[in-house]
Amino acid sequence: MITRIHNTDAEAACALIERILQVTNERPAGQTVNIALSGGSTPALMFRLWAEQYDAQTPWDRIRLFWVDERCVPPTDEESNYGMTRDNLLNKINIPKENVVRIKGENTPEDEARRYETEVRSMVPEEEGFPQFDIVLLGAGDDGHTSSIFPGQEHLLTTDKAYAVGTHPKTGQQRIALTGMPIIHARLLIFLLTGKGKAQVLADIIDQNDAGPAAYVGHHALHTVEVFTDKAAAEQA
Ligand code: 6PG
Repeated sequence: MITRIHNTDAEAACALIERILQVTNERPAGQTVNIALSGGSTPALMFRLWAEQYDAQTPWDRIRLFWVDERCVPPTDEESNYGMTRDNLLNKINIPKENVVRIKGENTPEDEARRYETEVRSMVPEEEGFPQFDIVLLGAGDDGHTSSIFPGQEHLLTTDKAYAVGTHPKTGQQRIALTGMPIIHARLLIFLLTGKGKAQVLADIIDQNDAGPAAYVGHHALHTVEVFTDKAAAEQA
């Protein structure tokens, strides 16, 4: 596990974008890089910086964007992870429409989990029977969750379904979530954790314990794990 501690959240975000570009440019010409994005608030800054500072150097025709998870709301809802990505990134770049593969939060949750898994499996190569993304970008909550795999729903870490329905323990909001097995099969598993609120979950990930779902997938990842963080999180960790 490689942990990169930057002075600020913006510097961590830029370093992460540059890492993604490095992975993309290292792939043979013509090969598509399949990236699964998380939502929440942390990635918004990264998406804005990507559009503002790295758009021209990003080969969008070779990048296909999927989602790690989505709230079961329409894309017009302020809670939508796709909506956040659209507003901060997608509306500002020229990525081919077919390279954006969103989870349809407006659909019935269980039906959408099955539909999206089928769609992902038709586009993403597999490893040991699970979709293997080139990059899975994860955030983590201060309760130790990642994707939409919350404490108390650890069965989602080992299910043989690649996508499943999770439930936010406080709000009861249902979410479509990439589960533990495809996460740990990622060729490159990246955590973006910034701000002092992430100190404990960052410490658990670095400690490689199984304290919560985020630490678990970092601990059991089968390939490369990289953590992009800032001093605000790391100094408290
Ligand atoms: C989501 C995310 C989730 C997120 C964490 C951290 O749908 O909320 O995918 O896993 O990464 O909750 O969220 P913040 O970035 O808002 O702290």
